[in-house]
Amino acid sequence: MEARLVLLPGDGIGPEVIGAAAAVLRAVARRFGHVFHLEEYPIGGTAIEATGEPLPPDTLQACLEADAVLLGAVGDPKWDRPDLPVRPEQGLLALRKAMGVYANLRPVRVFPALVHASPLKPEIVRGTDFVVVRELTGGLYFGPRQEPREGRAYDTMVYTEAEIRRVARVAARLALKRGRHLVSVDKANVLASSRLWRQVVQQVVDEEFPQVTLEHMLVDAAAMHLLRRPTTFDVLVTANMFGDILTDEAAALAGSLGMLPSASLGETHNRHGFPRGLYEPVHGSAPDIAGQGIANPLGAILSAALLLRHSLGLEEEARAVEEAVERVLEQGYRTVDLAVEEEPVGTREMTRAVEKALTQS
Ligand code: IPM
Ligand code: MN
Repeated sequence: MEARLVLLPGDGIGPEVIGAAAAVLRAVARRFGHVFHLEEYPIGGTAIEATGEPLPPDTLQACLEADAVLLGAVGDPKWDRPDLPVRPEQGLLALRKAMGVYANLRPVRVFPALVHASPLKPEIVRGTDFVVVRELTGGLYFGPRQEPREGRAYDTMVYTEAEIRRVARVAARLALKRGRHLVSVDKANVLASSRLWRQVVQQVVDEEFPQVTLEHMLVDAAAMHLLRRPTTFDVLVTANMFGDILTDEAAALAGSLGMLPSASLGETHNRHGFPRGLYEPVHGSAPDIAGQGIANPLGAILSAALLLRHSLGLEEEARAVEEAVERVLEQGYRTVDLAVEEEPVGTREMTRAVEKALTQS
């Protein structure tokens, strides 16, 4: 297969982890005989510095023409001043919106070798394997807002039936392929948008997915149950903001935020007939450790595996990458965020270990 992939390294540790994921994609191409054209474009703070805009038109156009997009991270404390009119995060939000990727799949899987890397008890986290489907182009992130003015500011959480229905379908379809158990997370005891959410998800499942068991859970309770009984979850579906928060929490199960990949999908397809996705590790730009060569590249590498699976239909290749990651963890390789007693390795050494495991499998 020949594929055109756009890489958006972004800010902080973004370039380091995207460099790692690119190396693994090249190793996949060599081993399986594919041709991947990898093109880099700026986004976020790096793009603001180069062009004045967090999502330059050339970057957006390349993303809309690519077969898939792999992004590192955006954001840096230097852009955190509340009075700044442009911020790196705007680039990412605009890209998600422009690509129409409304369903953000965040698999949370605890690798057996990392059971002891979690701050939670091994008997609680062992066997955890669920997917959070986070609505990505609506809700609080995109509703009408007022920036701070005269001591007042607001954001609004707006959802339409159509927005809820399409993401509920993605989640229910995924549940069908997995354990057929869907938990819809909302705050229907307080929020009107959540009452609509609950009603529409229920209707979608009743009418189109009778084989799926649906449970509704309030977001505060979900935050607790994810830590108390993570292995009982299969697929969760929730609003943009709730999904953002719950997946950082869920990362504690996997041992580190550095482990979680994500895939954002919408309705548009690439020239191979697969969804044109946006793939990003769940972790942020981690400015405190940027440039030191110690970032965990596995979230980005596992995101590349999701890209191979969802946007290129390369299931065997995706599995090979996931198995290579599993193998290096079993061999004891740990970046500093994962190390308990092990001597930590850097980003490069971890990446080379994955490449090696990939070529030897
Ligand atoms: C994420 C990030 C982003 C989000 C930020 C960087 C805008 O936290 O992908 O989870 O809030 O969606
Ligand atoms: Mn987040």
